[in-house]
Amino acid sequence: CGIVGFAGNRTACGKPLEVCMQGLKRLEYRGYDSAGVALAAPGMDRVAWRKKAGRLDRLVDDLKAKPMPDATVAIGHTRWATNGVPSDVNAHPHMSQDGKIAVIHNGIIENASELKFNLETEGYTFASSTDTEVAAKLLGKIANEILDREGAPDLFKAMRRVARMLTGAFTLLAVDSRQPDIVVGARHDSPLVVGLGDGENYLGSDVAAFVAYTKHAMELGQDEAVCISGDTVVVTDFEGNVVSDPKRFTVDWDASAAEKGGWDSYMDKEIHEDPAAVSETLLGRFDPKGNLDLDEVHIDEDVFRQVDKIIVIACGTASYAGLVAKYAIEHWVRIPVEVELAHEFRYRDPILTPRTLVVAISQSGETMDTLMALRHAREQGSRVLAICNTQGSTIPRESDAVLYTHAGPEIAVASTKAFVAQIVAAYLLGLYLAQVKGTMFRDEIRHIVTDLKAMPEKIQWVLDTQADTVSKTARQMLNAHSFIFLGRHVGYPVAMEGALKLKEIAYTFSEGFAAGELKHGPIALVDEGEPVVCIVPSPRGRDVLHSKMISSIEEVKARGAFTIAIAEEGDESVANYADVTFWRPQCPTLLSPLVDVVPLQLFAMDMSMLKQNDVDKPRNLAKSVTVE
Ligand code: G6P
Repeated sequence: CGIVGFAGNRTACGKPLEVCMQGLKRLEYRGYDSAGVALAAPGMDRVAWRKKAGRLDRLVDDLKAKPMPDATVAIGHTRWATNGVPSDVNAHPHMSQDGKIAVIHNGIIENASELKFNLETEGYTFASSTDTEVAAKLLGKIANEILDREGAPDLFKAMRRVARMLTGAFTLLAVDSRQPDIVVGARHDSPLVVGLGDGENYLGSDVAAFVAYTKHAMELGQDEAVCISGDTVVVTDFEGNVVSDPKRFTVDWDASAAEKGGWDSYMDKEIHEDPAAVSETLLGRFDPKGNLDLDEVHIDEDVFRQVDKIIVIACGTASYAGLVAKYAIEHWVRIPVEVELAHEFRYRDPILTPRTLVVAISQSGETMDTLMALRHAREQGSRVLAICNTQGSTIPRESDAVLYTHAGPEIAVASTKAFVAQIVAAYLLGLYLAQVKGTMFRDEIRHIVTDLKAMPEKIQWVLDTQADTVSKTARQMLNAHSFIFLGRHVGYPVAMEGALKLKEIAYTFSEGFAAGELKHGPIALVDEGEPVVCIVPSPRGRDVLHSKMISSIEEVKARGAFTIAIAEEGDESVANYADVTFWRPQCPTLLSPLVDVVPLQLFAMDMSMLKQNDVDKPRNLAKSVTVE
């Protein structure tokens, strides 16, 4: 879910609602099955609110038809349903019994039924089937108890008390008509950042919520509560102890970077930013002599020297970036690299030692599965390095070190430019380890770095020259029921990523297999006309890999498959077996995933558009999954 809050000291202007709606628009990728806002202003007896099931546009239309009153504070929510079906009544905000307080929530409150039972016994009634309404009713009750006892409303205190009573994961924001100058919030295992403006302050699930208004931001830690007014920001723990020095940072991208510009979709724009994502992630990571300089990660070289195993934890696309990196890092550093889905890693009994380096890869920095896995790794005494694209997010905050990918904001739910940036960052880490451990000569490293620096141009070549063939093929394949993707070596994770893209946005069943595995099962799926996408390595690299991949195409072709190859420009050997070929310019095998994924991203996008799906907001998904 996406959350936004605003408090300004310029009373009675349209800004609070405008800020919320702008923020929700930018956070919509976090969930889009319903949206709502709540406002408070001096003189209001109850909070004003509006909520609608469906996309944000429905709320926009509703607000146009029936404008809301001016306000001094506002909160807004865009939902990815976890608890209760998407409907008007289950949409946020939820109100206290007396309507004086409105609450929005991200996460899952695990003891909601127990709390609800107690509240019902006391006569409270519930309109929705959400856990959030339980929090709202509870907050209303506690706020009134404080009011009765102490005479003055204290929403911040009430919020902290409620936070202490809840279990599960939550970010809660609330406004109260009796204190129309503040917005209060609390977070436990769910994201919240503060935006610092001039005479106005903001809260958001991530900085995208307020970057159009301010680039000055502040991180909130685990189990912290916050109260913003136009002029003040107070951060405390749940007991009320003030946190004296919350970490401030400056957002390093412009609001325009999160806009669609002239593109048909964010995904289209972001695929075309693949080259920049690679070059920006390489930028500033070398000393004047060309050696890798990762001072920013703040882990001592000696510690890196001691590392004897790497475990990558990640989900979705990020896990495939990790799998690509495994091939390179093991080759360069000669230490084992395991790649594991974070949710699987967390609930087995992984073997971790202080010499294990755990690398958590996450675009959003908020994926709950990855966060839980990293906490588990740290509890076992391992160091965690995050590869992350989002400043101020939880995963880097809770890691021992962070290597940021500089892909810029990624808005489309299906990850594209972040994937190539994650590979580059993981490669930089691998080369740095090789440098400090001395497993490669400096010249060798420099050579690879030179090759890496040439990749943006090669990706651009693919975008410029292959897009038409890709679109034509997508049109041809529109009615295909399923797709098989095959790859070997680094082509294998690329095959899985290509299949994932197609599932996510074209809703087409597709699976990526290691080509060698074909004969052990998947070949039974191949029937007349079945599309099979084959990632063919360079014939100049390891000949074995190339010839084995050619054999796989031959095998599926012989069984009637429609074969789509990704192959190196000039590789004539594919011509006999491939019905269509997407060409890649020459590049070293280990770097080829950076280009090979590009036509697959385009292909999935084209298929999705042809099917008239919402490319950027595929059904049932959310970009940042902050529940386990
Ligand atoms: C969600 C998204 C995927 C993404 C995955 C991991 O499932 O829909 O596109 O790959 O989360 O996200 P992260 O932000 O941790 O990279």
